[in-house]
Amino acid sequence: MAVWEPRELRRLSYSADMNAHTDQQRFRPDPSPVTKAVVPAAGLGTRFLPATKATPKEMLPIVDKPAIQYVVEEAVDADLTDVLMITGRNKRSIEDHFDRAHELEEALEAKGDEERLRSVREPNDLAQVHYVRQGQPRGLGHAVLCAESHVGDNPFAVLLGDDLIESADLLRRMIEVRNDRGGSVVALMEVDPEQVSLYGCAAVEPTEEEDVVTVTDLVEKPTPEQAPSRWAIIGRYVCDPEIFPVLHKTPPGRGGEIQLTDALLEMARRKPEDGGVVYGVLFRGRRYDTGNKADYIRTLLDFALRRPDLADELLPWLRDFVSRHDTR
Ligand code: G1P
Repeated sequence: MAVWEPRELRRLSYSADMNAHTDQQRFRPDPSPVTKAVVPAAGLGTRFLPATKATPKEMLPIVDKPAIQYVVEEAVDADLTDVLMITGRNKRSIEDHFDRAHELEEALEAKGDEERLRSVREPNDLAQVHYVRQGQPRGLGHAVLCAESHVGDNPFAVLLGDDLIESADLLRRMIEVRNDRGGSVVALMEVDPEQVSLYGCAAVEPTEEEDVVTVTDLVEKPTPEQAPSRWAIIGRYVCDPEIFPVLHKTPPGRGGEIQLTDALLEMARRKPEDGGVVYGVLFRGRRYDTGNKADYIRTLLDFALRRPDLADELLPWLRDFVSRHDTR
């Protein structure tokens, strides 16, 4: 693939002595800021069938907001107000959600229901949301590749909708690491050995910053024996735009799909001047998985119980329910 000029210029902005790329002082800060977020949302949602037969899984509610709204809010909190959703068939309701709903707004206005009116307008006012369709379900790497023309030659964030992260601090920190050091950045969280097969797993080396590591190896969904560590990629990434030419050449991997993890491994093996180096930011906060039924229900309960209006009603019921269940 032809490399266009801005990318060449950006490469030159790295200083000449790049060999010891673990030393961040040798990088000059990258001139292009991270302003765009890419949110893959083209999955078929098979784990939630039949609920997801006609409704995208991203629209399943976590209390009274669809899961995908939390993800967009996180991006916006990290100052990423340009959001590109990678969608597919049957995803129209996502577009409707982030659009105006004039009839509904008029009805709420007529009733003077300001609070609900605000909640209905909020998704539309949050960010500039763009859409591109993936066409074929060829994996996460392929979904990210669909963002190429929108993102161009800029670093960008990727947020996976199945993972809800309590605050935008993690994403902000990842962007800061990218700005300071260049390269790409993944969010890593330590998981139990029996869970590694659900994630992309990383071998890491420490840097001089306690929460930042250099990624030296990556394996998509390894068996516990194959896993290079218990550090799992949770669904947040900041990618150097050099990921695009790499993704173009990435063959199908695990599950016959083009894996983002495989492309990042290729990047990690490259020299820094070629957009290489992958860092990990170690995350020790709260992450919610909504990708399977049990985790989705846990997330729902957790979010509900953190809302005072619902907790007062739900907690006594839940205690009673658990004690009845225990005796049974
Ligand atoms: C994807 C990635 C995987 C990552 C995970 C995080 O897998 O391929 O590397 O660890 O997201 O949630 P998925 O859960 O979409 O199968």
